[in-house]
Amino acid sequence: MENVVRVGVSFEPELLKKFDRLIKKRGYQNRSEAIRDLVRKDIADAGIRQGKGVVVGTLTYVYDHDHSDLLHKLLHLQHHHVDQTTILASTHIHMDEKYCLEVMVIRGPVGHVQKLTDEIRALKGVLFGELVVTKLAED
Ligand code: NI
Ligand code: NI
Repeated sequence: MENVVRVGVSFEPELLKKFDRLIKKRGYQNRSEAIRDLVRKDIADAGIRQGKGVVVGTLTYVYDHDHSDLLHKLLHLQHHHVDQTTILASTHIHMDEKYCLEVMVIRGPVGHVQKLTDEIRALKGVLFGELVVTKLAED
């Protein structure tokens, strides 16, 4: 490979074990190529959402409700975006002792919807966050 930069990535052991199992099943020769593909996909997905216009979508995320002040941070973010992005509905499901799943139906300019998604996903204690843009709104 011509020009590469080496980076170190830290994993929880259990997560790494699962990742290794998955990439073996998918036929990767090593972790680096698998991680590069994930990064490429994420960059491509982000590009798709950089279009203009108003979208309606669902944001699904899973988090540890005991994680320090995560609940406050989640609510704070949602209030902060209230001028640009409308939360049309949201559902909260208590998955087990620890984890909660929430689905929000949101509408707003694609950039803001993406930004809210990115900020929620980046919070510590949020394990999973996925935005599905379902359609462009009329306005
Ligand atoms: Ni607050
Ligand atoms: Ni809950």
